[in-house]
Amino acid sequence: MKRRILITGGAGFIGSHVVRRFVKNYPAYKIVNLDKLTYAGNLENLSEVEGSPNYSFVKGDVLDGAFVKSVMVNEGIDSIIHLAAESHVDRSLETPADFAVTNVVGTLTLLHSAREVWKSALDGKLFYHISTDEVYGSLGATGLFTEESPMDPRSPYSASKAGSDHFVSAFSHSYGFPAIISRCSNNYGPNHFPEKLIPLMIHNIIQGKPLPVYGKGENVRDWLYVEDHASAIDTIFHSGRPGEVYNIGGNNEWKNIDLVHLLCQVMDQKMKRTPGTAEQLITFVKDRPGHDLRYAIDSSKLKRELGWSPSVDFPTGLKKTVNWYFDNKEWLEHVTSGAYRQYYDRMYSNR
Ligand code: NAD
Ligand code: TYD
Repeated sequence: MKRRILITGGAGFIGSHVVRRFVKNYPAYKIVNLDKLTYAGNLENLSEVEGSPNYSFVKGDVLDGAFVKSVMVNEGIDSIIHLAAESHVDRSLETPADFAVTNVVGTLTLLHSAREVWKSALDGKLFYHISTDEVYGSLGATGLFTEESPMDPRSPYSASKAGSDHFVSAFSHSYGFPAIISRCSNNYGPNHFPEKLIPLMIHNIIQGKPLPVYGKGENVRDWLYVEDHASAIDTIFHSGRPGEVYNIGGNNEWKNIDLVHLLCQVMDQKMKRTPGTAEQLITFVKDRPGHDLRYAIDSSKLKRELGWSPSVDFPTGLKKTVNWYFDNKEWLEHVTSGAYRQYYDRMYSNR
């Protein structure tokens, strides 16, 4: 079956991997990428697929229901993969209302728009919402989040994602709206904006700047290579059951401080320097307020029901990531200098 898919947030980190994967692997599909191009959205992430006949980009805001509906009608959209969001916990602590607006109201607006456009027939339609393990809150030293774990969000970011998940579930239950949710652990890989832990550390090591480790670096995250997340999204999109939630994870827990040490070793190797050089930059800084101690996800449902498992082990993924940042110094320079923002403001000043 041919699909006509609206991907929101396709110019961001994970979204750009999903767009590239679908455009390349499914030439018979039409992929429409709708993105507002906030500071985190970068069309340089998509240069590989820019001219592809089965791909188009529209600059737009998920909060603009009338515009979303016009795109859906004009493009004959039958499926949505919704990634657009404000995604950084530290920013959510500064401007929590922005997260409620984009993540909660934005998702609700998109749901409502899709329901209106699809009202004559829901058959063959799908709204796939990309969420996060952070909605489950924080774990102690043991245990894993399952799909049945209660939601217990503890940062404004995770609260806003939990709010969006509730609206997606409410549409499923209230209207029989065909929706799926997946909740993934921390991603890493190429195109990651250098405000998140791994790309920030890579950038700072290159620059010889301090590596800020929050608190004692004891917090634990479960890291998944971004292309594995994109492959899980592909599997769930094609084979997942509407009304279901699927956890996605890497079985790959790391204490932040251990991860930073490993990354320093990889960077020293890459930069052909004496081992231990990058580690000298590690600086313990004031902890993040309300810092979730540990995330770890049980993705056995996804493996059991749909046969998905991750394919990239952490040392390999980390090396691939480091190599990508070295091969794409210009990308890093552009996103850190803000030059690309000025370019977009000029290019798209009409919206
Ligand atoms: P990102 O911040 O890199 O990208 C977000 C994208 O959304 C950007 O391109 C931005 O321009 C766009 N956007 C923001 N507001 C918009 C709006 N109002 N209308 C249209 N577009 C808008 O985020 P990411 O890390 O790629 O995360 C993508 C999704 O995956 C998010 O929903 C996030 O919650 C979820 N997620 C992320 C991780 C992770 O580790 N990064 C893990 C699990 C789930
Ligand atoms: P981050 O990449 O922001 O993802 P999240 O908060 O969504 O898990 O942070 C990952 C972990 O790294 C988290 O425990 C906070 C920590 N951290 C630092 O220690 N220093 C930093 O500069 C950043 C950005 C994060």
